[in-house]
Amino acid sequence: MDSFCTWRIVEIRHSFGISMLLDVEDLKVSFHSRDGVNEAVKGVSFQLDAGKTLAIVGESGSGKSVTCMSLTRLLPPPPLCQVSGKARLDGKDLFNLSPKERRQVRGKQIAYIFQEPSTSLNPYYTVGNQIAEAIQYHRDDVEDVEKEVVNLLDQVGIRDPENRAKDYPHQMSGGMKQRVMIAIALACQPRILVADEPTTALDVTIEAQIINLLRDLRERLNMSIILITHNFGIVDEFADDVAVMFRGKIVEAGPAETILANPQHPYTQALIKCIPKMGAKRERLPVVDYALLEE
Ligand SMILES: Nc1ncnc2c1ncn2[C@@H]1O[C@H](COP(=O)(O)OP(=O)(O)O)[C@@H](O)[C@H]1O
Ligand SMILES: [Mg+2]
Repeated sequence: MDSFCTWRIVEIRHSFGISMLLDVEDLKVSFHSRDGVNEAVKGVSFQLDAGKTLAIVGESGSGKSVTCMSLTRLLPPPPLCQVSGKARLDGKDLFNLSPKERRQVRGKQIAYIFQEPSTSLNPYYTVGNQIAEAIQYHRDDVEDVEKEVVNLLDQVGIRDPENRAKDYPHQMSGGMKQRVMIAIALACQPRILVADEPTTALDVTIEAQIINLLRDLRERLNMSIILITHNFGIVDEFADDVAVMFRGKIVEAGPAETILANPQHPYTQALIKCIPKMGAKRERLPVVDYALLEE
């Protein structure tokens, strides 16, 4: 798209009060080893508006995590890993930052929560200590760090936050630990929260609670969320837009409602068929027919 067209679109979006926060264009990521080259992400483009949720859906290994981690370069350094394309946050080029600027974007602008909260938390420190560390690293404005720790635990729905702050991770359930990870992410007041399969390690009732919490925080804090999942069931209730990834490419993208109602790509159709329905009986799980998807 030429720059005039891009500018016109930005102008039109502004006049409707829509502001694009993140703009990713032709992102490519490849890993290089003695065994050869793995093109993990093969030219993906997407946008994220302020206060909105984009779900990136696709099976394991399709390049979802690598796409999001490349934004703050949470990947091996070159020449082991090469990143190209453009990623702009509020117009600022994320791939052309000094190390200091990059550290500021990590956490402060874009924060991550991952699948397995147990491996992200340090078992030797209390959860309160770990939240306090994030506050001290990223926020100059907070005078009473302890009070802010309690406030954050309260915001993520942990009861009796004064006492729970003194817990070590092993004293908490999986769902509570994920809430603590969200509190650590929020401590930095990020503009974008990347939730990378945040509920995969949790059981279904806890999954619903965590998704509700994210929804609530998005509304209260006007945060944008990128939700990575392989479960279209979550997309239905949570996302504004969806990008479906398959083997390093986005094969279909658009508003969640449209894609769920009328999926075009056979891979998206297969993923939607896999959403479990209440009361429905199936002889066996649906299988994606890869022969249909070969180029
Ligand atoms: N640090 C890494 N080093 C080498 N290859 C990696 C690394 N991280 C991911 N990959 C490869 O990149 C591809 C995409 O991985 P990933 O983005 O983690 O998939 P997804 O999140 O969709 O399950 C996979 O082939 C994976 O093996
Ligand atoms: Mg992943």
